[in-house]
Amino acid sequence: MSTLHSLHHAAQALQLAGEKINPQYRPGYHIAAPANWINDPNGMIQFKGEYHVFYQHHPYDEHWGPMHWGHVKSTDLIHWQHCPIALAPGDECDRDGCFSGSAVDDDGVLTLVYTGHHYTDREKDLFTQNQNIAFSRDGIHFHKYEANPVIVEPPADSAHHFRDPKVWKHGDTWYMVLGNATQDGHGRVIRYHSSDLRQWTYDGILAESDGTLGFMWECPDFFELDGRHVLLISPQGIERTEDRYCNLFQTGYLIGDYDYETNNFQHGEFYELDHGHDFYAVQTLLDDQGRRIAIGWMDMWESDMPTKAHGWAGALTLPRVLNVDDQGRLLMNPVEETKLLRQEQFSLGESFTVTDSYSANITESLLEIRAVFDLNNSDADKVSLTLHSDASDQTVIMYDNVNEKLILDASQSGKPQDGIRTAPLAKAALLTLRIFVDRSSIEVFANDGQATLTSRIYPQGNGASMELTATGGQAQVQEWTCWSLRDIWQTATPHTDTTIA
Ligand code: FRU
Repeated sequence: MSTLHSLHHAAQALQLAGEKINPQYRPGYHIAAPANWINDPNGMIQFKGEYHVFYQHHPYDEHWGPMHWGHVKSTDLIHWQHCPIALAPGDECDRDGCFSGSAVDDDGVLTLVYTGHHYTDREKDLFTQNQNIAFSRDGIHFHKYEANPVIVEPPADSAHHFRDPKVWKHGDTWYMVLGNATQDGHGRVIRYHSSDLRQWTYDGILAESDGTLGFMWECPDFFELDGRHVLLISPQGIERTEDRYCNLFQTGYLIGDYDYETNNFQHGEFYELDHGHDFYAVQTLLDDQGRRIAIGWMDMWESDMPTKAHGWAGALTLPRVLNVDDQGRLLMNPVEETKLLRQEQFSLGESFTVTDSYSANITESLLEIRAVFDLNNSDADKVSLTLHSDASDQTVIMYDNVNEKLILDASQSGKPQDGIRTAPLAKAALLTLRIFVDRSSIEVFANDGQATLTSRIYPQGNGASMELTATGGQAQVQEWTCWSLRDIWQTATPHTDTTIA
């Protein structure tokens, strides 16, 4: 099939699938495809003043399959518009999939850099991978470079995992980091450089597992932030240890100092970036305000996804600003623009004491919640905020003052096998929670991004009440406010044009 034909075909399939969707759990303000499957965010960039986000997409059904690149764009990171599918697989260079990658602005040409996936034995999941580029002047219609692949194969000492190029410019040179593994199964990130995005030279290993960090590092991203260098990675195969590494795969970071000349990255230990059930394959862009903005896939490999029965699966997180704090840890906070979503404000209380519990009736399923506990003037062991969608169903966010942990309990959130997730969070005078609920997701940001928990939930009801609880003593609450949020997709216009520029 020609590229044009493949894109048309995919667009038609998607349109038909979109007509059959059950909207019950559809996100109101998160990025999701019009229908069917998505996973990783790809190609995040601000190009000619607009934010673009692409994503791994299977437009033909609700399961992962031959990967396409879906596409949305926005002027404010909040109001997204669907664009035509940008890349379809099936060419010589990407026969079995256009896997994850990034985007750069090459002097007015939006250039996508992505992995071509080729099965050598599909049954046994044996494959080869290469790196490719595709171009667009209008930011909507892409054509693949005729001399793809630009990197044919991994370095000689490498395993067959060779994917997810992240490209950026430093000085006059383009750099690429790739997810990779050694032949004896240690995850690592390798670096290439180029002067024209077409000819690439291998520079060596940028970082590598010491044997404790998994067999493959997916979706690397590498950048300077607040005077340090940050390597984001999504390792596969780290063993679970108590509260750490509870999901099948993790996304986290290494922070350190980097020398471009020698490709030497001196870094500290690996930390998980978000401790919820559903956060993976994060990628970032640098915008014209100098913000490093991260978006992750808001699901997890091999987890049950109840919305498959509704004709779709997968969403992306809210855009989040990253910073490095003075302890050398990453902070992650929703972009300021999330305030554009706010509609009605509910002031639920100010300066009050919770002796047992304190509740409010809220029947919204798109919500932002802000709760500030004055822990210096509380003697409770635990404080919590519970969201009830009906009598039998609840999602609990709890802070354990004694063990200094933030806990998300999703065991009664429509998917009992999920259970709890825990993030370490040092006790401070105030516990400030900022929580975003969007029909089937919850994102918790605590103490200005020191801890985040992102999970999919599947409430049975439509939103009934919220409650603050104190156990083992009483809690002083400084403020409790929430806002109903708008559904950006109800007013969005679809973009179905699939012509090639
Ligand atoms: C990460 C990942 C990438 C790959 C893509 C395939 O979730 O496995 O390594 O490029 O998904 O869809």
